[in-house]
Amino acid sequence: MVNQRVVEAINRQINSELSASYSYLAMSSWCERQKFTGAARWLRLQSQEEYLHAMKLLDFLLARDCSVELDAIEGPTMAFTSLLDVFERGLAQEQEVSKQIDTLYETAFTQKAFAAVAELQWFLTEQVEEEKTGREIVAKFRLIGNDPPSILDMDRELGARTAIEVAADAKAGN
Ligand SMILES: [Fe+2]
Ligand SMILES: [Fe+2]
Repeated sequence: MVNQRVVEAINRQINSELSASYSYLAMSSWCERQKFTGAARWLRLQSQEEYLHAMKLLDFLLARDCSVELDAIEGPTMAFTSLLDVFERGLAQEQEVSKQIDTLYETAFTQKAFAAVAELQWFLTEQVEEEKTGREIVAKFRLIGNDPPSILDMDRELGARTAIEVAADAKAGN
């Protein structure tokens, strides 16, 4: 049996991953309405990726025969001022999730829940990648400022993200 404190912490993390998914969906919708269809596509895929993170934790709890508690998901921010604003918020969200994963890992470790520790290692690595990607996109938007052709270029670049990439990530996480 997995320690109850660890089970509760994983349940909280499931909520947090679903909140992140919801929040990226809000960002995607805003971008689509502004006709930034590339960014909208990137963010929709990111939303799906966060959903898969939640499923990975959920499946872990189920595999360990632990109780699942699905809490209400808070409504995300729907209004943004620019693509830079969107991706800055996305990065801030990733940084927050990294802190949560660190705390969760510490809880699992101190409770000697070693199967959970092994499972959470994947999330530690994933957060390094998520923050790196987020920082790169934010840096590019800061650099191009309000130059419309460059913004459109970036939108096109973001739109090149493929669904297969997400599928491969999910598979790697199995
Ligand atoms: Fe995540
Ligand atoms: Fe993420």
